[in-house]
Amino acid sequence: MELSLLINLFDVPGCLVVLNPVGSGNVNDTFNAIFRNTFDEHQVILQKINRKVFPEPEAIMRNLRRLTVHAHPKLLAEEEKQTADRVWQMPMIVQTKDKKDFYTDEDGQLWRVITKIPSATAFDSAQGTEHALECGAVLGHFHWLVSDLPTEQMVEPIPGFHVTPRYLRQYDETVENSSRAKELLRASTEVRRMEMFINERREFAYTLQQAMDRGELKLRMMHGDPKVNNIMIDNFTGKGTAMIDLDTVGPGLVHYDFGDALRSICNHAGEEESNLSKVVFDMNLFESFCRGYLRQARQFMTDADREYLYDSVRLITFELGLRFFQDYLAGDIYFKTQYPEQNLNRARVQFRLCESIESKERMIRESLAKL
Ligand SMILES: Nc1ncnc2c1ncn2[C@@H]1O[C@H](COP(=O)(O)OP(=O)(O)O)[C@@H](O)[C@H]1O
Ligand SMILES: [Mg+2]
Repeated sequence: MELSLLINLFDVPGCLVVLNPVGSGNVNDTFNAIFRNTFDEHQVILQKINRKVFPEPEAIMRNLRRLTVHAHPKLLAEEEKQTADRVWQMPMIVQTKDKKDFYTDEDGQLWRVITKIPSATAFDSAQGTEHALECGAVLGHFHWLVSDLPTEQMVEPIPGFHVTPRYLRQYDETVENSSRAKELLRASTEVRRMEMFINERREFAYTLQQAMDRGELKLRMMHGDPKVNNIMIDNFTGKGTAMIDLDTVGPGLVHYDFGDALRSICNHAGEEESNLSKVVFDMNLFESFCRGYLRQARQFMTDADREYLYDSVRLITFELGLRFFQDYLAGDIYFKTQYPEQNLNRARVQFRLCESIESKERMIRESLAKL
């Protein structure tokens, strides 16, 4: 079906004037639609949910419905009390004209429309300390919004996504069973060094899982993909206003989000850097992000939660390095590559970042204790 016909199945007031693809996401197909009538304008986001990433998109939409039913009243109550120093937002589902949350097309693809966060930008990388602080505030506020959403109300969108020991098992299986892996390990001292790097951190890989098993950390709701380009910043005030890309929201540890956001924000060099000396963990961005985050997260975080914040940054960085390395050994099955050793290089970058984090452990812990 033509996109312009498809969008008209949804209940948006006015006449469609523009329907444009939106650039930088790499999971869903996203379009921006503008509808006008005599006195005003409605902008919405049309998306096709990627079935390869989310095998059960209907479940994703049920999650989104539960999430918004829980969070929107909290947002409205906050707005009424005017206790916040800004307006917090969260996209809303726009139903079809026959009152469904999504439309399934003739190929079985699932389309949905959500409201657009107006006059806001999702940057592709950290813009400086103020931006980092706002990113922290948005994530912390989001975690507060969902901190009392019962975990049994939501399904895990991608089961076991951040269970580090699971990746360790997968890695061990590859080393044991793949002849390519054996050959690479035999032929390269660097690959063997990376194997050692992993072996030295085996016990550490269980840290968060064990803390959860002991009951120190509680399963709550997490975002699942807290990259900077899923955090919207108001174009006029420069303040953070909303988390978007809500398909990965599900039960988990907020620590995974916290660690993952910092892993990506505090490394200027990005994930593809070939000059490893440029890969360092930026303490200024770290402190700013944490100041923004903890100011919001204070409302629900326990002392035990805070205990594990350092570990979460180290662990998520290690985990991603491990995943890249495992995929390189297995023959680039999961992460797409443009050149032969790209996943090896990605693993190098994350392991280097992990070492940089480890070398700053004392500073990181001290700075967390102060905030
Ligand atoms: N509700 C929204 N309001 C404003 N912009 C949005 C909204 N949802 C998505 N976008 C824009 O579309 C891009 C891709 O959407 P996203 O949901 O993040 O998909 P992906 O999973 O592909 O990253 C975002 O980076 C953002 O620029
Ligand atoms: Mg996105």
